[in-house]
Amino acid sequence: MTERLSWPGLLRQLVRARRHLALANGAAFLVGLVSLPMPALIPKLVDWLLLRPGTQPAWLAPAGGWAALLLPACLLALLSMRLAVLVLNRFQADAFMGLSKDLVFQLRTGFMRHLEHVRLHALERAGGAMIAARGISDIDLIGNFLGATLSRALVAALSLLCIAAALLWLNAWLAVAIFLIYPGFIVFSVRASRQFTELKMREMQASEELTQALSNAAEHARTLRVTSRSQAYFRAMEALAASARDTSRQFASASTAAMQKSIVIFNVCVDLFQVAAVGMACYFGLSVPEMLTMFAYLWLMLNPMLDLMQLPGGFFSVGAAMARLNEVFALEREPDPGRANGAGAPSGAGWLCVSGLAFSYPGGAPLLAGLSFTVPAGALVGIRGPSGSGKSTLLDLLLGFLCPHRGEIRLNGLPLSHFQLADLRRYIALVPQKPGLLAGTLRDNVRLASAADDAAILRMLRHCQLESWLASLPQGLDTVVGPGGQALSGGQVQRLAIAGALLSPASILIFDEATSALDLETEERLVDAIMPLLRERTTIVVSHRLSILAATDATYELNGGRLQGSPTLMQPQLLTQDTDV
Ligand SMILES: Nc1ncnc2c1ncn2[C@@H]1O[C@H](COP(=O)(O)OP(=O)(O)O)[C@@H](O)[C@H]1O
Ligand SMILES: [Mg+2]
Repeated sequence: MTERLSWPGLLRQLVRARRHLALANGAAFLVGLVSLPMPALIPKLVDWLLLRPGTQPAWLAPAGGWAALLLPACLLALLSMRLAVLVLNRFQADAFMGLSKDLVFQLRTGFMRHLEHVRLHALERAGGAMIAARGISDIDLIGNFLGATLSRALVAALSLLCIAAALLWLNAWLAVAIFLIYPGFIVFSVRASRQFTELKMREMQASEELTQALSNAAEHARTLRVTSRSQAYFRAMEALAASARDTSRQFASASTAAMQKSIVIFNVCVDLFQVAAVGMACYFGLSVPEMLTMFAYLWLMLNPMLDLMQLPGGFFSVGAAMARLNEVFALEREPDPGRANGAGAPSGAGWLCVSGLAFSYPGGAPLLAGLSFTVPAGALVGIRGPSGSGKSTLLDLLLGFLCPHRGEIRLNGLPLSHFQLADLRRYIALVPQKPGLLAGTLRDNVRLASAADDAAILRMLRHCQLESWLASLPQGLDTVVGPGGQALSGGQVQRLAIAGALLSPASILIFDEATSALDLETEERLVDAIMPLLRERTTIVVSHRLSILAATDATYELNGGRLQGSPTLMQPQLLTQDTDV
């Protein structure tokens, strides 16, 4: 099972880069320290030059014209401190950004590895492409939080710590009073961000519904247009767009209002403390430069406070992103006991023996009710049956995409679970009824399961009746097909998939209505051309076409969850219980 995402888990991953983290934190602390004397410098100048001239330290008072030197010296000090803060801030932000990008990379690879092994049916049910795209943006959100929000908040917290120390040194009573208002701010921002999180979730949900509907409409534009449902569908989507607009407006308005409110509250607090400081200067011996320094520190607190107030909202958003990612991580992975046992790959001529196979989809009626059959090595077996009778499901069971509830499938005499799934799928090639094209050239798509050279590819495309079509393509095998490339007809895609399977080294070939989009004449020519190649391997053909079924050694009829029809073919080894692989 894939490990779920959690705050302690993220922290553990960050802590793995201990050295970088320590350097980044060290830089943040230095930023706080270096910024600290800045607000005190100008009030000190006022003290030295205006209020009590001549009280500056001896080393700053060379004989004659000292004031002329003091001003540029202070300016230089201020400039150097600002430069140091800039450099340290850059270093700290870079270090954090580096850490977050590493973490994003680790999360992305973990996410991709999980998707690679998720059960096919669970992935399709969960929404395939949609959850993949959402997963990547959620991981980015986590990375940005760690790289930007958290790093800024860290600098802010350390700056506030330094300011607190400076204020305490200036006047303990005022400092305590100032820092007593902190909890109030934190409670306010946590409460506000809870409200934002809810609004943000609604905004994201509305935007996701719109994206899903739009990508569905774009993918099935043809279906919508030919059924004249396009207009109604798009009008319904406009309602979704309006809802996305409203929820987005609500979120933006609430978050801006809260931010403005908190700035006003902060300013009122600053006013209060300024009045208090003047009062202390009048009645409790606070000097004027100390009072000015205090004012400067109060203003210096504004940005760190705002940075810290972003933190709870960030925590909630990251929590929501982690919850969504965990939904994907909760998708069941394909059990692969063969991989755990380091089992060897199947070899030699392939034969299959299915006994007492029963299967039903979750919540569905029994689909396969204890069926048994054998496909001997080198045989060509046909399966037919009404639509929805479970033919494709049976093939998914043979490839380990699904697990039977009862019964057993043996390959070369050994249970399927004996083999690693990757080896099994190299050994058994399946051509589905609706094969897909991956983005790439024609050559890439035909060579998905083999390393065939161009001559072999061209020969196979000729067998698959694609020769004249290929000749019409100016770029030949280099023609880009699939997403972003040339569109192909259903029959062309089917024939490319058949060519790919025949070029693969698989010992067992399975065709699931793989010629359903071809006209009878082309199909017959294709079957004639590839029949000698099929005879070199073991083949299962699911089809309704009599022209193909007539050429099989046996044809089973799947109906009512059971196989009927042809006499059962027996693998010779079965009779002697030989389990030679
Ligand atoms: N992933 C799935 N989840 C639930 N039911 C499914 C799934 N795939 C297929 N079915 C149902 O199982 C039945 C058999 O489907 P299938 O094996 O594709 O039939 P066939 O290939 O014989 O036309 C159908 O009723 C179909 O609705
Ligand atoms: Mg089917």
